[in-house]
Amino acid sequence: MLSKLLRLIVKLGDTFGAEKLIEISSAHTVLNFGLNFVNASAKVLHQMAEDNLKVKVRTTADPIIDMDYADDLEVIYPMFSLHDQMMKDLEQIGVYGFTCTPYFLDNKPKIGEHCAWSESSAVIYLNSVLGARSNREGGLVDLACAITGKTAYHGLHITENRKGQILFKISADINLTNVFNLTSIGLKIGEIAGNKIPVIDGLRNISTDNLKNLGAASASTGAVALIHVLNITPEAKDLNEAFQYDKPEEIIEINMKDLKEVREKYSTEWTQTPQNISIGCPQLSEEEVINVLKKLKGKKILQNINFWICTNKKVKESIKNSEFNDILISSGAKITSLCPLLTPLPRPLTTNSAKTCFYSHASYRNLDECIKIATEGIKID
Ligand code: F3S
Repeated sequence: MLSKLLRLIVKLGDTFGAEKLIEISSAHTVLNFGLNFVNASAKVLHQMAEDNLKVKVRTTADPIIDMDYADDLEVIYPMFSLHDQMMKDLEQIGVYGFTCTPYFLDNKPKIGEHCAWSESSAVIYLNSVLGARSNREGGLVDLACAITGKTAYHGLHITENRKGQILFKISADINLTNVFNLTSIGLKIGEIAGNKIPVIDGLRNISTDNLKNLGAASASTGAVALIHVLNITPEAKDLNEAFQYDKPEEIIEINMKDLKEVREKYSTEWTQTPQNISIGCPQLSEEEVINVLKKLKGKKILQNINFWICTNKKVKESIKNSEFNDILISSGAKITSLCPLLTPLPRPLTTNSAKTCFYSHASYRNLDECIKIATEGIKID
């Protein structure tokens, strides 16, 4: 099995013209998307466990099912039957985490480290915010890299391939303190950039949480795996550095009209009150969860609506043991480690996430509107 995994990485490397394999310091795997893939990956994973293989580097995995809500979700979730065996096998080979934001746990590679990550939202964060290096690996290939401790040297592992290509200028008419605008900018940039490397000028003082949300949006509408945000991305202190002393191929301004268009394009406008409202895709940081709970203080979610606050298991536990648990209980919101796409929530669905809205039929609203709909049941145009 080990030699098969190595051959897989070499063959893939050949396809991309890689000259060699390199050592990695970290991996992140996605095994849980789509029933057909999960069925196949569960088999391969089980074989890995039976062969007693272990990961050589720190390796986390994307969200799995949140068993605290098994009763609520069993009817709609066909992967429950695979859950126990997969968890046992993953644990045996040394994989942990089960979140799409592993950098909020301890899987946070340093600048320049080579990694093999899948999960597009995590890869773009790794390259753009942490300054580490990974291509968008595929499910199972990521695990092959984790077990061998190697990946092929191509794509974003090579400095020259990290050169910015398109310069995006953010128009002054966009309010950048509004997260909804930032995620919509992400959707627009991904759509235009495709697989090119964007450089964004004009996003001063953006938090890393909001970069996570913007990046996830770009990685959904495009194959973007690295965005240079001037002054934030470690390799992009200024335009010269971001473009490696070359000129942009194109310069594009993004304005408020673009954001309105992109929202109309990707939002599914349900006319009924949503059955489910999901907040957090990528999963929320602890600060983001607290922000949602503060907004929910003194409010009550309507009876026929599930209001999901998606985060990792560690934050979930921390919130449940904090002063904010009272708000959680009195509001009726559900804090969960589920992924709203992996565990597809029944429609009508409303979300504040650009990524959820892109990949599923969901109404795309800002957080305040999601809370208003959840607690007052009114439709906001
Ligand atoms: Fe994370 Fe699931 Fe969204 S893995 S980025 S919450 S699709």
